Amino acid sequence: MISANWRVIWNGIAGKNDVIVIDKLAHASLIDGARLSGASIRVFPHNHLGELESHLEWARREKPQARVIVVTESVFSMDGDRAPLREIVELKSRFEALLLLDEAHAVGVIGPNGGGLAAEEKLSADIQMGTLSKALGAAGGYICGSTSLIEWLTNRARSFIYSTAPPATVAAAAIAAIEFLQTSEGEDRRHALWKNIELLHQLLVSETNRKPESAIFPFIVGQENDAMNFAHALQKEGFFVPAIRYPSVARGSARLRITVTAAHTESQIRALVDSIRRLQRSSGRH
Ligand SMILES: Cc1ncc(COP(=O)(O)O)c(C=O)c1O
Repeated sequence: MISANWRVIWNGIAGKNDVIVIDKLAHASLIDGARLSGASIRVFPHNHLGELESHLEWARREKPQARVIVVTESVFSMDGDRAPLREIVELKSRFEALLLLDEAHAVGVIGPNGGGLAAEEKLSADIQMGTLSKALGAAGGYICGSTSLIEWLTNRARSFIYSTAPPATVAAAAIAAIEFLQTSEGEDRRHALWKNIELLHQLLVSETNRKPESAIFPFIVGQENDAMNFAHALQKEGFFVPAIRYPSVARGSARLRITVTAAHTESQIRALVDSIRRLQRSSGRH
């Protein structure tokens, strides 16, 4: 899917006369696509609507002919929080900009049939992209947009034309996953997932000040070594919880990135939190 993000921004919608206004915490593939496109890049602090608005004002004032593209994610990969999508759609419409929305961590998890955050909020992005490799369990990514955008990409995007198509087996797995999302069994699976997400938040309520928004729970540790040691200790107890550190997140905010699935049981989630608490106590951090 990384190449999908490059493809759509770099080979698709933006060029050197355009402006990309991007959230500070957007995924590396979105940042790289923006850089490769040669467009002017303006970065707004994470989910900061006031700063987004100022950048849009700047773009319309200084570059009236430019195509202006707001780039953000529906669920942020390292924090698990959501973008204020309704307000962003309102702003991009007011400034006649386009919205490119990366739904990588929302598809399969949020919205009717797991269709993502835009579907849940009954909004639409001009360009929506997602990955087939997370909730869908296959590999690769997809881009949805206007017919002319898709025709342009299939005919002109270098990273698409000059790269081998996904293996048929992987495409078949992705199609099966998309079909499954729309069945009642798929709905039951999402229901089980949200039950697990809520249980984890309930047990770790002291570590978060917000309600559950996705399957990603950032357990902030701080120092990189501490986060790595924490993750190793958890692994010894049978829990695979990756430690995330710079450059994926800012220095000093290294974390355990806890992800629950529908397949986890209540006792597994409780056992994980017990281990976290015990390790915290033995390290004197709590
Ligand atoms: C927000 C976001 N976009 C894109 C990607 C890239 O997806 P893939 O791993 O399928 O290439 C990721 C993966 O981590 C992601 O978190």
